[in-house]
Amino acid sequence: MGFLNSLHLKLALLVTTAATLAAAEAQTKPGCNNKCGNVSVPYPFGTSENCYYRDEDLNFFLNCTTTTSPSSGEATTQLIYGDNIPVLNISLDPPELTVSADVSYHCYNSSYSYNWMKVGKFSISNTENRFTVVGCDTYAYFRDLSSTFRTGSMLTCSNETKFKEAGGCSGVGCCQTSFPQAITNYDITLRSFENYSDVRDFNPCGYAFIAKEGSFNFSYRELLNLSNRTQFPVVVDWSVSNQTCPEAQKDKRSYACKQNSRCKESVSGIGYYCVCEDGFRGNPYLDTGCKDINECDGDNRCSRKCHNVNGNYTCSCPWGYFGDGYTNGSGCKSPIKEILLGISIGLLVIFTLVSTLCWGNKQRTLKQLRRQYFEQNGGNYMLQQLHQQQGYTDRTKIFTEDELKIATNNFDESRILGRGGQGTVYKGILPDNSIVAIKRSRVGGDSRQVKDFVNEVTVLSQINHRNVVKLFGCCLETEVPLLVYEFVDNGTLLDHIDTLKNEHSLSWETRLRIAAEIAEAISYLHSSASIPIIHRDIKSANILLNHNHIAKVSDFGASRLVPLNESQVSTVVQGTLGYLDPEYLLTGELNEKSDVYSFGVVLVELITGNKAVEFNRSGQRNLAMYFASSMKEDNLWQILDNRVLDQKNAEQLKEVAFLARRCIRMNGEERPTMKEVATELEGLIAMKKHPWVKGGDMMSEECKCLLGHVADGYENASASTSAAYDSIQKQLAFEIEDGR
Ligand SMILES: *[C@@H]1O[C@H](CO)[C@@H](O)[C@H](O)[C@H]1NC(C)=O
Ligand SMILES: *[C@@H]1O[C@H](CO)[C@@H](O)[C@H](O)[C@H]1NC(C)=O
Ligand SMILES: *[C@@H]1O[C@H](CO)[C@@H](O)[C@H](O)[C@H]1NC(C)=O
Ligand SMILES: *[C@@H]1O[C@H](CO)[C@@H](O)[C@H](O)[C@H]1NC(C)=O
Ligand SMILES: *[C@@H]1O[C@H](CO)[C@@H](O)[C@H](O)[C@H]1NC(C)=O
Ligand SMILES: *[C@@H]1O[C@H](CO)[C@@H](O)[C@H](O)[C@H]1NC(C)=O
Ligand SMILES: *[C@@H]1O[C@H](CO)[C@@H](O)[C@H](O)[C@H]1NC(C)=O
Ligand SMILES: *[C@@H]1O[C@H](CO)[C@@H](O)[C@H](O)[C@H]1NC(C)=O
Ligand SMILES: *[C@@H]1O[C@H](CO)[C@@H](O)[C@H](O)[C@H]1NC(C)=O
Ligand SMILES: *[C@@H]1O[C@H](CO)[C@@H](O)[C@H](O)[C@H]1NC(C)=O
Ligand SMILES: *[C@@H]1O[C@H](CO)[C@@H](O)[C@H](O)[C@H]1NC(C)=O
Ligand SMILES: *[C@@H]1O[C@H](CO)[C@@H](O)[C@H](O)[C@H]1NC(C)=O
Repeated sequence: MGFLNSLHLKLALLVTTAATLAAAEAQTKPGCNNKCGNVSVPYPFGTSENCYYRDEDLNFFLNCTTTTSPSSGEATTQLIYGDNIPVLNISLDPPELTVSADVSYHCYNSSYSYNWMKVGKFSISNTENRFTVVGCDTYAYFRDLSSTFRTGSMLTCSNETKFKEAGGCSGVGCCQTSFPQAITNYDITLRSFENYSDVRDFNPCGYAFIAKEGSFNFSYRELLNLSNRTQFPVVVDWSVSNQTCPEAQKDKRSYACKQNSRCKESVSGIGYYCVCEDGFRGNPYLDTGCKDINECDGDNRCSRKCHNVNGNYTCSCPWGYFGDGYTNGSGCKSPIKEILLGISIGLLVIFTLVSTLCWGNKQRTLKQLRRQYFEQNGGNYMLQQLHQQQGYTDRTKIFTEDELKIATNNFDESRILGRGGQGTVYKGILPDNSIVAIKRSRVGGDSRQVKDFVNEVTVLSQINHRNVVKLFGCCLETEVPLLVYEFVDNGTLLDHIDTLKNEHSLSWETRLRIAAEIAEAISYLHSSASIPIIHRDIKSANILLNHNHIAKVSDFGASRLVPLNESQVSTVVQGTLGYLDPEYLLTGELNEKSDVYSFGVVLVELITGNKAVEFNRSGQRNLAMYFASSMKEDNLWQILDNRVLDQKNAEQLKEVAFLARRCIRMNGEERPTMKEVATELEGLIAMKKHPWVKGGDMMSEECKCLLGHVADGYENASASTSAAYDSIQKQLAFEIEDGR
């Protein structure tokens, strides 16, 4: 008996481990025990009234009993099914009970062994179990009690060595066979052929049993252990009723599968069982037993976002991603690469489009602007004017902006020759390699000015005087007109007069010739041109010299055309300080005599070598005033330029000084005309060339008295001008006549 008890104990331990694992899944009706010992008891099984499923001829009652071992006093709790069959484990899916079955054994000292098991409505699993016979002089057979099925094995071992060495249940000492399904009650009969007479030494007994596959691995040592083993686990397939699923579903009352579950045919072929629908887990035999699985907490095929729904789940992608969100679908693709690519392509396209449009637009606008400027700058009027003067059309060219841009290297800083009140002058190289000066005028704007400008350009273009800078053409497409002049290479007269700037100052002969040339040019502007032109800004800075020191009057930016029927025009006073006619400054009335005054100042600059306005000059900053007062005080010799003052020049210097003094008279009418001045200067040059002509002294006398006369009349000059004017003219005419 002690040997059997120890077996029980071992079995109990086995049961315990199995039960623990099953515990978590066990579910019962409310208020029912879900455990018996270590075995979980899930519904439809139950250990007490109302805790198990039942229909007319079937119930799932299991008797949970506790037995106390009489020898050790140890309490053993067992779950008993049917006729004292211990239950080791309960599984709902697959629907299986693991029960404990006795081993049948037979030894030489007993005639035969007989064993049986009845599992009632359930059936012995023919897939999970094997019928095993162990022995060396043994035959055993297995019989289904409810049918005529039998199977048997015969085992004989002639050689002990072979038997001991045998491994696995392969026919020597051990044999395993399978059996048909749906066997509910069976018995096993075990016999010996020879009463173990030959093998009693090493194998006195034979064994036969049904056991769960894997629970018995044959070996000689196992065989020895087998004598101490009385039970093996057996898997029993259970099912609900003996109906098929469609039959069961007809009777809603007895149908065991609750919501979210479905019916499955039993593998044994008898009855059905229930499983939870996909997406649910739990006990399908209980109301609300099948619970939704939150797939999002466990395994799912979502690559980014998971949403649990009843019985299923859906995947999605975060905002900004695209794809179906399933890992084995298109997943969630990061849009950044695509977006960046898209954006860059888009931007490129847009950029190209916009820049093309802009460029086209800009070109159009530029063209329009040029046309607008051309018209605003009087282009059409000028073309008309030029057309009327057929002969001169060839000389005045209308340049395009692009031509001049190329010529000046896009108006580069390095090309700037000078900046003045009227604008900036650039050096330009035309395609034929000729060098020109291009002036960017500062004026521009109202129509009257435009007309004047055009007139000036047209008139200037007609002037072909060797001492006037030639105007080659102009460009009217720009906001401010551009004028293209002859390029004069040797700087301005101012540069040459300025003692500080030039060591090799001009000789007296050159100065005199230059004075004459300027006078001649201005005289020509005043009288010989078709419309009189008043330069308005005669100054040494506007007299250009070429390499031969030939003077060229330039900068007609301030020049005014004086219609023939007017002797003077009213303008806003304009000019350069030091050269500006004081009378014009006072009255704003412009006439030719303003140029005479300015020329007088240039003349004074030529003979004194001083600048028109010098801030560090002691006494008088204004050269004209200083000169006039010096002459009045008879200090002429002190102020003349030492560089040209010598014995042979003295006479001429004095005469030029007197001429200059006349030119800078306050009263314009008392000044000589440019023509007179030019004539006088030419006379002086001629006299120099022919020194036998004398009479300088007489002339200086005349000048002196004239000077006195003018000085007297200065106060009432504004009142009675015409008389004084006439007298000056007469006097001058006389003087010049005399001088020759
Ligand atoms: C149940 O299992 C536990 C361990 O899981 C064990 O300690 C206990 O003894 C077992 N009880 C029975 C009655 O087998
Ligand atoms: C359970 O088993 C015990 C002892 O084996 C027995 O006394 C009892 O009547 C059984 N209970 C039921 C409901 O069969
Ligand atoms: C008992 O049954 C559960 C399923 O219900 C299973 O997981 C477990 O392995 C089984 N234990 C044994 C010892 O067969
Ligand atoms: C037969 O022999 C075995 C072991 O040799 C022994 O356990 C058993 O009690 C014996 N049976 C009878 C009926 O003598
Ligand atoms: C048993 O078999 C082994 C080899 O298979 C052999 O060597 C031995 O002689 C045999 N014994 C008998 C008694 O036949
Ligand atoms: C088998 O042998 C034993 C002892 O050798 C004997 O007691 C027993 O009666 C025999 N059984 C049969 C069925 O011959
Ligand atoms: C039998 O062998 C199998 C595989 O070799 C193993 O899984 C199993 O646990 C063994 N059974 C026993 C009872 O030793
Ligand atoms: C046989 O039983 C002994 C003790 O009862 C044990 O130590 C041994 O592991 C067992 N052999 C096998 C193969 O299970
Ligand atoms: C069987 O069990 C007994 C006592 O429980 C032990 O003495 C004996 O060695 C065991 N036999 C085998 C083969 O393990
Ligand atoms: C199911 O069992 C009932 C009662 O035992 C019996 O009347 C019926 O014939 C069985 N049906 C089938 C298909 O076995
Ligand atoms: C979840 O829904 C999809 C389609 O909507 C379906 O293909 C899939 O089988 C469902 N999964 C479950 C567990 O119901
Ligand atoms: C995802 O994979 C499973 C099996 O791996 C397949 O049945 C299913 O149709 C696949 N779904 C898609 C959307 O490819």
